[in-house]
Amino acid sequence: MSDRFANSRRLFERAQRSIAGGVNSGIRKMEQPVPLYFTHGQGCRLFDVDGHEYIDFQIGQGAILYGHAPAGQAAAIAAQAKLGVHWAAQSELEIEVAERLQRMIPGAERVRFNNSATEVVLSALRLARAHTGRRLVLKFEGHYHGWADEGLVGFAPPADKWGTEEEPTRLHPSKGVIPEVLDQFVVARWNDPEHLRRRVEQYRGQIAAIIFEPVLCNTGCMEPVPGMVQTIRELCDRDGMLMIADETITGFRFGAGCAQKFLGFVPDLTILGKAIGGGLPFAALVGKESAFQKIISGEVVHAGTLNGNPLCLAAAKWCLDEVLALGDRHPATMVAHGQRLMAGLTEMARRHNIPLQPQGPGLVFHAAMLKPGAATGPIRSYRDYARRQDAPRWVHLRRCLLEQGVRAIERGLWFISLAHRDADITEALQKAEVAFARHATEWQPA
Ligand SMILES: Cc1ncc(COP(=O)(O)O)c(C=O)c1O
Repeated sequence: MSDRFANSRRLFERAQRSIAGGVNSGIRKMEQPVPLYFTHGQGCRLFDVDGHEYIDFQIGQGAILYGHAPAGQAAAIAAQAKLGVHWAAQSELEIEVAERLQRMIPGAERVRFNNSATEVVLSALRLARAHTGRRLVLKFEGHYHGWADEGLVGFAPPADKWGTEEEPTRLHPSKGVIPEVLDQFVVARWNDPEHLRRRVEQYRGQIAAIIFEPVLCNTGCMEPVPGMVQTIRELCDRDGMLMIADETITGFRFGAGCAQKFLGFVPDLTILGKAIGGGLPFAALVGKESAFQKIISGEVVHAGTLNGNPLCLAAAKWCLDEVLALGDRHPATMVAHGQRLMAGLTEMARRHNIPLQPQGPGLVFHAAMLKPGAATGPIRSYRDYARRQDAPRWVHLRRCLLEQGVRAIERGLWFISLAHRDADITEALQKAEVAFARHATEWQPA
């Protein structure tokens, strides 16, 4: 039998002899039947080493908001590369990018740059501790804040280690973590404002910050229930904690003002990654001047050889100008495309008797595959997600989609980009029809 992914398989076998585990980010191993290798991308299309074309909804894990290889960004990067990519010094470009962020984001009075959002999270938490003189940080189950020790506390514990409803575990998914790091966190369940109030009360006066994904995209796709972000803001104001919005995924996807403007709140600090650099390693911490005081005074160390390098700045400036140029049209067009895709997939799932339930605002959504007998209706928390999601069945459907040329994220998330057009959504739905029919015939629970 011919192997559709023979060249990717060959490269993956070769990679394992040099690259530890064969991939450079652990999550990429999730791709079935083999992590794919690509030659190039254009717009919302990706092309693999076996000659297959994909309509891409993985879109660089959300970073490629502008599509693959946009000509304007390529030109901006090439022009800068000729002038030099790195000076470890100042340039007018860094002020230009910072000034754009100030114009776009309500809470961005001051800015600092890093190379990844993981680093920015560490900067934000250090700053919050120094700002308040407190030790603890409150975060939510299922929220992902980068892969470092501090970013993954209590992220996705197995069901037998969840802890009680009132005291979620601080379990970290990685071995090798400094054990004491876990003690610096309080974990709460997402989308339960009253539970959050009780959690804060329990540690009143000891919590430096509450960090959260405004729309939870790293576990399903869960918008905040009414009152959730308002409760975080109210508690932070009441107790002198910093409100830290991790907009690594939502930033610029939800418009120039990010999810904070879309949802109507102003955090003290915001973490930006992914779309700010359009695929280049670029990230930023932005926030109120008062929250930045300890960096301004030099009491908090924030550094990095490659911070604010002109190559990434040139790319970021181009990205931000694209978003600014769209004005009020963004994100409405992406929402419309995503909602059309969600509606098409929902209707298709019903016809093929597949328990697939797309959920989210459209410009990003998650296609939950429900376990037999699981309740339908919105999934609102990590525990609800873990109880209802039929992961093996989704993996099978995703592979059927992939083999038809439609690429979603391994764990069920779909990102729309600015490069997806109506015709791409139509074509994706036509291809999905074939994939759904195949899945319905072939799927057999273990
Ligand atoms: C919400 C959130 N925060 C932080 C990060 C870490 O970003 P990076 O992988 O660029 O370090 C991610 C990455 O997916 C994320 O989704």
